[in-house]
Amino acid sequence: MNYDIIPMTAEHFSMIKDKLLEDYDSFWSSSILESELSNPNSYYFVAIDNGIILGFGGIWKAVDDCHITDIVVKKDSRQNGIGSKLLEKLIQEAKLKNVNSLTLEVNSNNLPAQKLYKKYGFKTLGVRKKYYNNTDDAIIMTLYLN
Ligand SMILES: CC(C)(COP(=O)(O)OP(=O)(O)OC[C@H]1O[C@@H](n2cnc3c(N)ncnc32)[C@H](O)[C@@H]1OP(=O)(O)O)[C@@H](O)C(=O)NCCC(=O)NCCS
Repeated sequence: MNYDIIPMTAEHFSMIKDKLLEDYDSFWSSSILESELSNPNSYYFVAIDNGIILGFGGIWKAVDDCHITDIVVKKDSRQNGIGSKLLEKLIQEAKLKNVNSLTLEVNSNNLPAQKLYKKYGFKTLGVRKKYYNNTDDAIIMTLYLN
């Protein structure tokens, strides 16, 4: 597949804001994503092919750690390596920020995402019980960068 991974702009946001759940399965509300774009500690990227946003993801820098806030691939474009390329971009960006680690939470039922993170060396640090909607557990995973 041919696509570029570039910083997310307000124009990209307006292309996906009404389709977050339907096309991308993103658990983020559009208002949170929009506010992230103007957060000086947040860094978001899109995978884009001919004006079609195939996926997006971002990190949030906090002192010596970056947190992956979201990484999502368009439902009809999954299992083509796009999630991997977005994750590689987020790892590269975190390294540029000179942080020690990259951390995230993932639903304990979300096996595809867990496999993706493990493939890139993320280790399980712990579990937050009933973190999602007071039912599903969150697994905390970290990649040490130094
Ligand atoms: C998780 C997600 C981003 C993966 O994106 P993707 O483009 O399909 O991922 P890739 O094609 O790069 O696959 C990378 C690895 O992820 C794992 N993976 C991806 N989809 C999988 C699936 N359906 N079942 C099992 N493993 C899967 C595999 O280990 C795969 O490596 P492999 O191809 O060498 O086996 C995508 O499924 C998604 O958008 N899910 C919904 C949003 C989400 O849950 N985000 C994570 C929030 S923490």
